[in-house]
Formats: sequence, structure tokens, C-alpha cells
Amino acid sequence: MDLATRYMGLQLKNPLVASASPLTGELDSLKRLEDAGAAALILPSLFQEEIEVETARYQHLTSAHDDSWPEGLSNFPKLADAQHGPHHYLELVHRARQAIGVPIIASLNGISNECWTSYAKQLEQAGANGLELNIYFIPADLAATGHDVEQRYFDILKSVRAAVSIPVAIKLSPYFSAVGNMAEALHDAGADALVLFNRFYQPDLDLTRLQVLNDLRLSDPSEIRLPLLWLAVLAGRTRASLAASTGVNSAEEVVKYLLVGADVVMTTSSLLRHGPGHMATLLAGLEKWLDAREFASLKQVRGIMSQRCLRDPQAFERANYIKILQGFRTPAPAAGGARSIAQ
Ligand SMILES: Cc1cc2nc3c(=O)[nH]c(=O)nc-3n(C[C@H](O)[C@H](O)[C@H](O)COP(=O)(O)O)c2cc1C
Repeated sequence: MDLATRYMGLQLKNPLVASASPLTGELDSLKRLEDAGAAALILPSLFQEEIEVETARYQHLTSAHDDSWPEGLSNFPKLADAQHGPHHYLELVHRARQAIGVPIIASLNGISNECWTSYAKQLEQAGANGLELNIYFIPADLAATGHDVEQRYFDILKSVRAAVSIPVAIKLSPYFSAVGNMAEALHDAGADALVLFNRFYQPDLDLTRLQVLNDLRLSDPSEIRLPLLWLAVLAGRTRASLAASTGVNSAEEVVKYLLVGADVVMTTSSLLRHGPGHMATLLAGLEKWLDAREFASLKQVRGIMSQRCLRDPQAFERANYIKILQGFRTPAPAAGGARSIAQ
């Protein structure tokens, strides 16, 4: 079965990619994911805050002895060679590049422009085959306009693009008012690929302690619907490579994402839930589905259910919604009571 695909300019043996998580942050699990068939691996994000905390800790350690024990400083490595800042991450990129045969994509989550560009360069030098920009930004400032938020994406992308020559992907927010236009504009500004979508943390409340819960729920398949809609709309229209992300648990979600036109399908929750070997289960399920319908290659099916290819393109839009609403039967009103629609 020919499952080959291209993503952000990289030739991949199949469309299954392990997205950023602690599982991709260890060489051992990276190897297990590769053995289970992952075609590319996204490392966890290098967070600017983590680098700054580590650097500050190091500077505190060295400066604490400035007056009292100058000769003691010789026990510390020079700042430039120190094991602080992004050192461990760069080491992971380097070691993964040596040990793993499939493309290694580093992920960066910065705040300042200097951080984005300087670390992007270092990640490229460490051997990353590509870079994913995890622009995790919630515009909680009520003065920030939609234009400000969009401009932030463009500014980051342009500075990173100017700094590196490896392919760059953007993990996109689902909250833009015009996702399609934003996707095209980002491609024009230099993004090789778009990941639909970033799964922003959604808080919940503890009603006993009256606190914001400090939990992270893994995704479930009901969450594929929003990315599925936008992948279907964009496939065959944008020139950017498209990655589906969020909600994959079984091969069924993988097949759906490919049918609407994703170039690759990413998963984290399913791997954390079932272990790295689950990649092989997803791959086998995809092959089985294709085989049962006598497709010889992924190319024959990818995008055949995108909006552009459907006989009824309205199926992804408002008209379908209206049709569905019309199909709902409102229950007969209780005597003297008001009509209601069951939730
Ligand atoms: C424990 C955990 C850690 C994650 N760490 C990162 C990260 O460092 N960078 C990033 O871009 N996404 C991170 N993600 C998000 C995943 O890469 C992915 O986008 C998200 O989980 C949705 O995909 P899924 O439905 O397959 O889980 C993390 C997710 C989880 C559950």
C-alpha cells in the first residue's frame, strides 16, 4: 500500500505524525514512535518562559558568590558554554537527528521577537528538519483588536522565516474571524504548513473549593468536527500543506481527516492514552480501510470529500445546518406550557 505524502516540503512515508507532547521529549519514546510507524515527530515546544527561568536560576547561582567567594566561580562553567537555557532542548534535537530516521520537527513557543528568531536559528543548526510555531496567545486584553492578533502571527512568522531556511509550520488558532483568508495570508507570508488547530487550554471550576481547576483533559473524537470543517474548506484551495490535529483516537478519525484533504494527521492524546505502539494500530487501521475499498494508494482518496470535490459543497455550510434544524421535531407542548426543543 502506497501511503506516501508530502508535508511542509518533506517527503513522508505515511501521513501519521506524533504531535508535540512529553512523549516526544525523550529519545526512548521517540524511537518507539518511529518503530511503530510514525512518519514524522514533533518535539514538545521550547517555551521562552522555561528558558528564562533556567537562565535566571543559573545567573543567580553564579552571582550569589560574586563578593564572598570569587574563586568558587571557577566551579561553574562559563555562561556561554553553560548547560542552561535551551541547551537541553538543542541536545535533544541533535540526538534525535542522529538516532531517528524520520523527520524531526522542533516546536517553539516564544514571547519576544528576539526569542523566536534566535532560538529558531539554533534549532535549525541543531539539525531540526522543520519548525512548528506554537503561537499560544489568548487576547485577554480587551483593547487588543482582531487586527492586532493577526499582526502578531505575521510578525512572528516573518522574523522566523527570515532567520531560517528549513520549512516552517504554524499551529493555527481556531478563533480567527476569517480562518480561510488568514490561512492564505500566512502562506503568502512564508508558512509552508498550517496545523488545524492549536488546542488551547479550556479551564473548568472546582465548585467545592471555588478554584480554577488545574487539569488537562485528553481529547476525544467529538473534537474532530471543527478542524474537519476547515480542512474540508481549505483543501485544494490553499497552497499551504495541511495538518489535521485534535481528536484522533482510532483509524476512523485518521480516515476522515484524510478524506477531507489533510496531508498529514497528528495525534497526541491517543498516544498518551494507549502508548507509542498505538501508532501501529492507527496505521494498520488506515491500511485496512483503504484495502477493503480496493484503493492502492493514499493519493486516490486524499481530499475526495473536501468541499471542492463534493457534489454538494453546501454540506459543510449553513444550508446543511438549516436542513438539520428543519429535521428536528419539537415536542408537543405540555397542556398550558411553552414549546421547547430537547437539548
Ligand atoms: C500533556 C500534553 C503536552 C503537550 N505539549 C505541547 C507542547 O509542548 N507544544 C505544543 O504545541 N502542543 C502541545 N500539546 C498539544 C498537542 O500537541 C496537540 O496539539 C493537542 O493535544 C491536540 O491533539 P490530540 O487531540 O491528538 O491530543 C500537548 C498536549 C498534551 C496533552
